[in-house]
Amino acid sequence: MPTWKAEDIDEVSGTGIDHERALIRILQLAHAGELAAAYAYQGHWRSRLGAKRRAEREEIQRIEAAEWHHRAQVADLLSVLGSGPVRWREVLMASIGRFFGSLCFVGGRFLPMYAAGRLEAMNVGQYVDAAAHARASGHEAFGDQLDEMVAEEARHEAWFSDQCRGHWMLPAVAVIGRWSPAELTPEGAAASDDPASKLV
Ligand SMILES: [Fe+2]
Ligand SMILES: [Fe+2]
Repeated sequence: MPTWKAEDIDEVSGTGIDHERALIRILQLAHAGELAAAYAYQGHWRSRLGAKRRAEREEIQRIEAAEWHHRAQVADLLSVLGSGPVRWREVLMASIGRFFGSLCFVGGRFLPMYAAGRLEAMNVGQYVDAAAHARASGHEAFGDQLDEMVAEEARHEAWFSDQCRGHWMLPAVAVIGRWSPAELTPEGAAASDDPASKLV
């Protein structure tokens, strides 16, 4: 697993108050973003019908559960920081999540997997920055908690990466989407040898 480090976010790049404000802003974005992700994944796993797709349906359900858990953790952090979610952003992101969840029923297999991998990569970056702002504002314990969330998002990214790697549309979509799958995981390597796992 690679390690993640935020660039230029430290005690010398701003005051503690600046970093705490930046942390709150990111957490508010993340709180709404987790809602969008959870709704999108609900549509995603529901669209993966049939016995053949049971394993991936269950994995997407597990990932959805992790996003709800993150959302609860982020809500706690915001409340300790004396803040909370931004209502309009929650409503907007809930609609976006449901919209993308419904698209999974018509978008085939590859595009929802690609979009999810890209979303997870953004979440990794978001929590990396949040952890750095937390530490730069003296919230060391928050930093540790956010590091765990980074690791979990990176696991999600790796899983979705394994699902879309090798698809014929990937080279073009990676240029438009500006994201390429993360390194192949051992599970992904094993699955790619399994004929039952071929992209459909
Ligand atoms: Fe998450
Ligand atoms: Fe995630």
